[in-house]
Amino acid sequence: MATLEETNAAHGEVNDSLRRRDFINVAAVSFAGVGAVAVALPLVTQMSPSADVLALASTEVDISKIAPGQAIKTSWRKQPVFVRNLTPAEIKAANAVDVGSLRDPQTLAERTKPGKENWLITLGVCTHLGCIPLGTGEGENKGPFGGYFCPCHGSAYDTAARIRQGPAPLNLQVPDYVFTSPTVVTIG
Ligand code: FES
Repeated sequence: MATLEETNAAHGEVNDSLRRRDFINVAAVSFAGVGAVAVALPLVTQMSPSADVLALASTEVDISKIAPGQAIKTSWRKQPVFVRNLTPAEIKAANAVDVGSLRDPQTLAERTKPGKENWLITLGVCTHLGCIPLGTGEGENKGPFGGYFCPCHGSAYDTAARIRQGPAPLNLQVPDYVFTSPTVVTIG
């Protein structure tokens, strides 16, 4: 027959063993919880657009340094975009054209924002086969109509970036944009 000490020692071992099992169970539950969070997080992350996708959706352009007569080439959704500050003479030339005679009839006003007719913002993608026309850089060939010239097959655009000569069927496309301040344009 077991003594009182032997019985107490045996109970102690049983309690220790139970405590160990409880710990293992709690640890397993906690681990499962961490696993669930770890699975849930990538799902949530996958459902919201990533930073680079958001950055591609719109592009902010600082236009404060573009003097009249100058243009810059930027990009939006991996496409080139031309931002041009037209001179009064270029605006006059664009407005002097008989719109009815154009292949893709549009006025300069229809291609710019009210009160900001000098800011011509278009995709830099020729509407023939997608080459990037010349005319933004200092000294680049602007073609016979003073706007842009596509060196691939000779399409010429005027100072409103309207197609005037060559195989391109349409004017350079005007993307969606807003003036978010007098010197910043958000494209897209
Ligand atoms: Fe511009 Fe052909 S791609 S003229």
